Amino acid sequence: MASRVSVVYLFSVMFFMLTLLSFDTEAKVHFHKWKVNYQTWAPDCVEVNIISINGQYPGPTIRATEGDTIVVEIENLMPTENVVIHWHGIRQIGTPWNDGTASISQCAIYSGETYVYKFVVDRPGTYFYHGHYGLQRSAGFYGSLIVDAAGKEPFTYDGELSIILNDWWHDSTYEQAVGLSSNPFVWVGEPQSLLIDGRGQYNCSTTSHSCNATNKQCSPYVLPVRSGNTYRLRIASVASLSAINFVIQGHKMNVVEADGHYVEPVEIDDLDVYSGESYSVLITNREPSQNYWAGVNVRGRQPKTPTGLAILNYLPNPSTKLPIAPYPTSPLWNDYAYSKALAMKFVALKGHEELPPLQSHRQLILLNAQNKINGYIKWAINNISLLPPLTPYLAAMKYKIKGAYDITPPPDIYSPRDYNITIPPPNPNTVEGSGVYVFTLNSVVDVILQNANTLTANNSEIHPWHLHGHDFWILGYGDCVFDPAKDPLNYNTVNPPLRNTVAVFPYGWTAIRFKADNPGVWAFHCHLEAHFFMGMGVVFAEGVEKVGKLPNVAMGCGLTKNMIDMHH
Ligand code: C2O
Ligand code: CU
Repeated sequence: MASRVSVVYLFSVMFFMLTLLSFDTEAKVHFHKWKVNYQTWAPDCVEVNIISINGQYPGPTIRATEGDTIVVEIENLMPTENVVIHWHGIRQIGTPWNDGTASISQCAIYSGETYVYKFVVDRPGTYFYHGHYGLQRSAGFYGSLIVDAAGKEPFTYDGELSIILNDWWHDSTYEQAVGLSSNPFVWVGEPQSLLIDGRGQYNCSTTSHSCNATNKQCSPYVLPVRSGNTYRLRIASVASLSAINFVIQGHKMNVVEADGHYVEPVEIDDLDVYSGESYSVLITNREPSQNYWAGVNVRGRQPKTPTGLAILNYLPNPSTKLPIAPYPTSPLWNDYAYSKALAMKFVALKGHEELPPLQSHRQLILLNAQNKINGYIKWAINNISLLPPLTPYLAAMKYKIKGAYDITPPPDIYSPRDYNITIPPPNPNTVEGSGVYVFTLNSVVDVILQNANTLTANNSEIHPWHLHGHDFWILGYGDCVFDPAKDPLNYNTVNPPLRNTVAVFPYGWTAIRFKADNPGVWAFHCHLEAHFFMGMGVVFAEGVEKVGKLPNVAMGCGLTKNMIDMHH
């Protein structure tokens, strides 16, 4: 039995490699020159300060074909802030210093400085980029990165559309950051608006801010379509907090891609998109004499935010012709059974995706807990709240710089093992740390994310976890406490989806498996901006000794300053 399975595995790997080999069309290099600056913008009609790229919001779309090289020269024109950009979903094979994570892969780009990101996009799919420093993603610092397949894809369509979803606040990210790091704690609260491709509509009569309902920047996003055609709609979420449910009035969606991997086509009425996830759905036409609403609603938290709207515009109707029926609604915000059932519908497309190794070499069980340090509220993983160090890990580990981070690795398993996940932590005190989980290069790692009750009784939240530098197989989801003896027997190793982001549901667990085959240092964290800011993440590393020479511009902060002087 075991050998039959491994033969199947071998064949699928061979098939996978053959597919890669058959795509050797000439690779191109795409150059982009970006100026990053503050800008006044009115994404939901309320004027605020955002971080724009070349004066645009959302940032410019990068489009390339698999195998191409992307070069982006970033000039930081913001007088008072450093920046980095993370290319979410791109594994940065061979270029771990260009992953764009402050404190992990590089020093942030100082005001007035220029940095050149260069990396290969090795796999087709729907990706995006965003700031990865402080709360800059929440300030509107993001855009699309779309990689076309060099060969045929396992589905066809006539046209393509693309949107990024997010949630939006009127308070600046400074005010939010100060509140989150204060005692007493000031929570950011629920968002004022939901945006579809950077556009939403706040009710101007309810705000004292400068708000203009006729500002073109906040007119609903228009998705132009023609009757008789099938469209591939790419959807991604960079939300700071919300789980966003996307629905198009009167249309079903056929999901075909998730996080750059093909899934068995599955027809759905509405789609939960967790922050950090991306999908492609196929939509076919309806009665073309009218336009339809596409809408987004909050799920997973009690909604206090109105439906965000875009218009599916059937040409030749004018885009200004408003759809007739009411705004699209989503399943109840706390119908978690629905969310889980939906998440489990996505499985790898047969014959198109690599299958997981059947055994792992190491297992981490990571408790997601809300805790406190001297009265300050934090998120902690196995009782350690991540405090990113001044010196980036990649340089610190490669050049063995002493004192840059905690050399004691964090625990593989939480303790006590009988921790009660159904009540607020009896001892909520935690500590800050900067230790690293170091894996043997090419070993197979399982991670079980174990959710728990927050500091508030009867409350547990969804956390979308995102892994840098790798994709992982989702082996399973479960309720309550993960049982290491029994639960792995039910893992899906037949057609688990490969992804880079996965949700852990309230009071439940999620199990993933990945190959630690990409030399570098990589973040694994909750993709909710405020949660990561409050310490909800861990750091993984493998094969750092195999990483090539780091560019000097990736260093120059913390203890790496001396490194550069030494090299000169
Ligand atoms: Cu999209 Cu570490 O993030
Ligand atoms: Cu979280």
